[in-house]
Amino acid sequence: MKAVILAGGSGTRLYPVTISVNKHFLPIYNKPMIYYPLSLVMLLGIKEVLFIVNPSDIESFKKLFGNGSHLGMNIKYTIQEKPNGLAEGLVLAEDFIGNDNICYMLGDNIFYGHDLVRIMKDAKKEIETGGGAYVFGYYVKDPERFGIVEFDEEGNVKSIEEKPKNPKSNYAVVGMYFYDNRAVEIAKNVRPSERGELEITSVNEKYLKDGKLKVKLLGRGFAWFDAGTHDSFLEAGEFVATIEKKTGLMVGCIEEIAFNNGWITKEELIKLAEPLRKTEYGKYLMELAKKP
Ligand code: G1P
Repeated sequence: MKAVILAGGSGTRLYPVTISVNKHFLPIYNKPMIYYPLSLVMLLGIKEVLFIVNPSDIESFKKLFGNGSHLGMNIKYTIQEKPNGLAEGLVLAEDFIGNDNICYMLGDNIFYGHDLVRIMKDAKKEIETGGGAYVFGYYVKDPERFGIVEFDEEGNVKSIEEKPKNPKSNYAVVGMYFYDNRAVEIAKNVRPSERGELEITSVNEKYLKDGKLKVKLLGRGFAWFDAGTHDSFLEAGEFVATIEKKTGLMVGCIEEIAFNNGWITKEELIKLAEPLRKTEYGKYLMELAKKP
């Protein structure tokens, strides 16, 4: 499985903050927003990652991640000329994906939960063995803002709609999608929605129609933020700060994960920590390297 992280878009819901800077570089507490989805992909053990970025941001992304070799990874970039929607990302990633399955992540979605990685690994395994699409639902108070999934009495998925005016449930589909290779062809056939975008929900709808969509609810014990608005951005930052201070462990620390995965050595970790030594982040990495 390969991972594609969508990190383009205009970020208009965060204006004026994002007029001159791409939202994915903004800090969620002590690290750029984009570290969080990348860290999850790494926790899944996926080394091959494609970022889909705006033309004006590609150099900044390269400055942040390069080709990924410092993390023991292989990171590539593709440009999305205009924010035409999430489904377009799958089409732009076609060459990168090749014949593989896909973990598709939105760059502004932040997840936290005790069992999260196990649940993601289950989804990955299910796609690798049985194909189809595997997505996650999360209870929200403002369903008009999201892709919304409706269930029947037996808990089967009945419908899925993008930003419904009259939502049929309060379960939003979060920005973490697992697909078999068909997703690329499906995405190619998506037509623009009313808001003029190629919606990822249309891709999910097609899988649903074919009886190949699985939705798992993330219940109690999970926190999910779509950090694309002023309030959710602030909430996500406060949440991460609280968790990190309470547990003494970092959330979304890509160097730590690379080290724990055995993708980089102790010496390489120290080298990454060195330029960050004035921060708690750098000190945390140094401590990690010192552990026997
Ligand atoms: C997008 C998707 C939506 C999903 C949401 C999650 O919305 O279109 O289905 O629920 O991400 O963050 P957008 O961020 O484009 O408004």
